[in-house]
Amino acid sequence: MIVLGIESSCDETAAAVVVDGHTVRSSIVASQYELHSMYGGVVPEIASRAHEQHIVRVIDDAISQAGVSRSDIDAIAVGHRPGLIGALLVGLSAAKAMSWALGVPMIGVDHVQAHLWAGSLDGEIPRYPALGLVISGGHSSIYQMSSATDLVRLGATIDDAVGEAFDKVAAILGLGHPGGPRVDAAASMKDANDRAFGFPVSRLGKESLDFSFSGLKTAVLYEVKGKPAPPKMRGKPAIVVPPAPELTTRRVEDVAASFQRAVERAVVLKLERAIEQTGAYETLIVGGGVAANTRLRAALTVLAEKYSMKLVIPDMHYCIDNAAMIAGLGYKLIEQGRVDDLTLCAVPTTGC
Ligand code: KG4
Ligand code: ZN
Repeated sequence: MIVLGIESSCDETAAAVVVDGHTVRSSIVASQYELHSMYGGVVPEIASRAHEQHIVRVIDDAISQAGVSRSDIDAIAVGHRPGLIGALLVGLSAAKAMSWALGVPMIGVDHVQAHLWAGSLDGEIPRYPALGLVISGGHSSIYQMSSATDLVRLGATIDDAVGEAFDKVAAILGLGHPGGPRVDAAASMKDANDRAFGFPVSRLGKESLDFSFSGLKTAVLYEVKGKPAPPKMRGKPAIVVPPAPELTTRRVEDVAASFQRAVERAVVLKLERAIEQTGAYETLIVGGGVAANTRLRAALTVLAEKYSMKLVIPDMHYCIDNAAMIAGLGYKLIEQGRVDDLTLCAVPTTGC
């Protein structure tokens, strides 16, 4: 079955052609990094307009690069949740138009769930039960998976997503947007010392499988910019807080490496807790933009070996948002007889 996938949930306009859920015949991603970089983050209205400008070309390119014609397409899969509502609507409208014009079924796909299929593209079928980890710009969640389409959320972030923390730390360090790859590069420098700063690792409750990254982000902010003085107490002398040292390249690398160490410890801690609480798993499935991180990939490889799980993690180009993962998971849903009609809505929140 040839599925055309369409993705426009945030700042990537993407389309892909995937055969039988696994074989990627084409995957086109038009990124909007430059449009948003001067604002230090994604501006929803700019994102929607850029999707609207690029969507037709991106779909045409995906079809022609796949070496198929429109009449060969058997179904359309579209990321319809979660995401920026105006951005989602562009991809969804294109999917509806194509489904109607070609007379083929359309299926809505949850973007977060699709990240957990990205590691299976051009690869083998994972064995279940699997422990799923989505680490992206918008989500940090752990799932118990009995199949690609049947999952229960065990924990999620209570504040910042891990990718959001990477992006904010990059901004604090003056590294610019997109932050994750730049923090990764700074932390990977030869002399970067990951023990230079003892940043906090959030544990939350003793049993908690949730994440929290806002305290870590604030600790980095105080280390780099200096801690704000506490309000002057009546009758007591003001506490003088020394200014933060100059932000040299070496210091940037040390902060980046120490931050990544804290992130790694938090992620590993929660995955180990999940295994202790919910039992053994055949596979550890990881997805999302932060799965591209050098240090986390190494740590997750070690963790999977320790618990005798097979690690399924996407190739670098399928970590960030793409439409191949949407088409792949869409196929799995259609295989189960699921199909949507033209009343399908864009939804800002995830369904899983
Ligand atoms: O999955 P994704 O493309 O978008 C969402 O669904 O949110 O993830 C984007 C996030 C951004 O926060 C970006 O900074 C982060 O993934 N990211 C990384 C790396 N590459 C991308 N974070 C850490 N290290 C990287 N190498
Ligand atoms: Zn994503």
